[in-house]
Formats: sequence, structure tokens, C-alpha cells
Amino acid sequence: MTIPLRTVIIPAAGQGTRLLPLTRVVPKEMLPVYDRPVLQFAIEEAVAACAERIVIIIHPSKTVIRDYLQPDPDRIGRVRLSGKDQLADPLTRIGVGDGIDLVFVMQDDPLGLGHAVLCAAPYVLPGPIGVILPDDVVFGLPCLAQMAAAYQSGHMVAAMTVPRSDTAKYGIFAPMGLSDSRSVRVSGMVEKPPHGTAPSTLAAVGRYILDARIMDTLTRTKAGRGGEVQLTDAIASDAAHLPLTAFRFAGNRYDCGTFEGLLAAGVAQQTKRGESHRAPASNSIIRDTSPEHMSEGHG
Ligand code: G1P
Repeated sequence: MTIPLRTVIIPAAGQGTRLLPLTRVVPKEMLPVYDRPVLQFAIEEAVAACAERIVIIIHPSKTVIRDYLQPDPDRIGRVRLSGKDQLADPLTRIGVGDGIDLVFVMQDDPLGLGHAVLCAAPYVLPGPIGVILPDDVVFGLPCLAQMAAAYQSGHMVAAMTVPRSDTAKYGIFAPMGLSDSRSVRVSGMVEKPPHGTAPSTLAAVGRYILDARIMDTLTRTKAGRGGEVQLTDAIASDAAHLPLTAFRFAGNRYDCGTFEGLLAAGVAQQTKRGESHRAPASNSIIRDTSPEHMSEGHG
């Protein structure tokens, strides 16, 4: 039976340093993946997991995220009136629809992912909590809903195998034994282990289903790697008394916190939309029509 994830938290307060200068004024969650911003995929995944409340953690400099999600019936009406329903339809799908609470919480200081999740504590409904890191765009069946269908108890974190040379970039699991199944019991996890110390090559991807007790644990979790309060450390400490499962999801994950990931996700989204072979509109490419250029062509 699929566990309902009544609350889904989307941490979106990070500074996007790896994507400078793109993120100098535009939050990384608003950067384009072909035809929609990175954040849109996280919202759709939270809705697919049947969230009743979505809590988005933002920084005071990133209120454009809140603006983006505001319903805009006037604009939709104007676009429809101009006869462009095909443009109006995606606008109607941006938000979360009636019946889902959208809550914005400010994280003023960049104290880490664990701290960001803790900021949502006053707004969490009873039951296990979903967390989506929007930088990790996953194409395929909605990842959090896949996890909810397999979740039983304790904490569950999405997982993928990475090359050993990449383990220092991720939270890495300590599996309890060999397992071919999607759900792998693990004894703990470690955030971005230094080279040569990773307990495995099974890495955390930014989707979590957390037992509500995580909030208490986070209040006691001290700053860890990078001087930040790490969600990984709180999960690892709970693993002493709660089951911890790594879930090998089906689908492709794109790290949209990097230029390469953004580009690859954009191309995949274009293919998904079935538009890869569409010729560019003639007015979307500006050719150099200066007299100098024209004369070159005619020798
Ligand atoms: C976060 C988590 C890390 C996880 C990663 C997945 O790190 O802390 O455990 O492996 O997301 O993208 P970040 O990349 O935000 O530093």
C-alpha cells in the first residue's frame, strides 16, 4: 500500500554558487530545462506523490520563486483572449491547484540542508515527510511516488550507483549486504566521504521519505561537512534505532546544479516533448544580413 506523503518539503534557499554567473540574479531553481524552470519538476513530483502541503524553503533574495508559483488568472485570461490556448495551458499547470497548501518559509542564513529541512518543522502534517531537492531532476516515473509505493518505515533515500571517483560528491550508503532489489537495507550513510574512504559506491539522490522523528534529531545535529548541518548526519544517527533504506529508483537523474546537467536535462526534456526534430522557426535564428556579409556570399 502506498503511504500518503501529506507533507513534501522543497529546500530552495541555496545560493547556486556552482552556476555563477547564471545565478547572480536568477535563482538556480528558475533556470530553464528547455521549456520550464527546474523548480517545476519538483512541484509536479510533489503533486504526483499526493502531497497535501508543499513547504518551500527560500532565501529572502529568492522571492521570485514565490512570485512564479502565484496563480495569475488575469494573464491566463489575456493569453486565452488572444486565441493562444496552447500558451495558456502550461500557465494553468504551474501552481499546485486547489486543495494543496503552498507554504513558503525563509531560511535567512545558509546553515545547510539539515537546517533547511528543520525550518519546515512547524508546518509538517502528521506522518512521514517527503523531501525533494529540486537540483536533482529525475525523468521517468515520478521518483518520490515510486519510493512511497515501496516505503514501509523509518527513513528511505533515493539511490544510484556512481563511479568510485565521484563518491566524494555525494552522501554514500553503507549497505548491509549485497542486494539486487530496488530497496536496499543500509546501516548508515556518510556525507561526501574523502577519497578512498567511501563505504560503497551507492550514492544518495535528492529524494527522501523521512520518519517525522527526523525533526527532533535535526535539532540535536551539529554542523558537519562544510561547516553545515547535514541532513545525511541526522539520518545516519537515526539509523541506530530506525530502519534505513536506500531505494534504487527507475529513471534518469540530472544534476541541474551544474551547467552540464542543466544542458543534458534540457535536451532530454526537448526529446520528451517530442520536439527534437522540429525545425527552428525561421525568425528564431538571426542571420547576419549586413551588406558586408551579404557581399561575401556573392564573391
Ligand atoms: C545533497 C546531499 C547529498 C546528496 C546530494 C544529491 O548534496 O547532501 O547527500 O548525495 O544532495 O544531489 P549537495 O549536492 O546539495 O551538496
